[in-house]
Amino acid sequence: MAEETETKQLFSPSDVSLHTSRKDCWVVIHGKVYDVTKFLEDHPGGEDVLLHVSASGDATEAFEDVGHSTSAISMMSSYLIGSIEGYMPPKASEHTTVGGSDEPPNSRTTQRNKGSPAPNTFLDFVLPLFMLGLAIAAWYYLTFVAKS
Ligand code: HEM
Repeated sequence: MAEETETKQLFSPSDVSLHTSRKDCWVVIHGKVYDVTKFLEDHPGGEDVLLHVSASGDATEAFEDVGHSTSAISMMSSYLIGSIEGYMPPKASEHTTVGGSDEPPNSRTTQRNKGSPAPNTFLDFVLPLFMLGLAIAAWYYLTFVAKS
């Protein structure tokens, strides 16, 4: 692993932005830089998507959204040429709370995404039914019981 890092170069985002053409195309995925120029024609997803994400600066999200197979992921190493200097993964800021801010926005979103929705769903379902039952009971009482 250490060998790999030593042999690969460090690039800045502006270095990468100079390689967005059909003849010279780099993409950034999880902070790693891949020279996909020779892969453009063979990419099963087409060359246009690669050119598009190359120009966008970071292909991580698009790459993940596709849900590439493990064989696709293992192919990537043959196109790896280096990594982005000082790359900060968007979701890893939990580990790098340098300023020590009071608000942890990530934990809030994580809780919402990972927290079990079951108790809320149950209440959302039962509460309207309970209110409806109460309304029917009140109507029945006022119409038939109270009048007699
Ligand atoms: C070095 C980087 C990449 C490699 C080696 C690679 C490889 C592959 C391979 C082997 C497939 C066939 C399906 C599979 O096995 O998952 C595929 C499909 C695809 N890839 Fe990539 N890919 C790379 C980067 C990207 C990026 C950055 C995007 C961005 C949008 C992308 C978009 C797609 C799409 C849209 C498909 C078609 C999926 C389908 O039709 O089901 N790929 N890729």
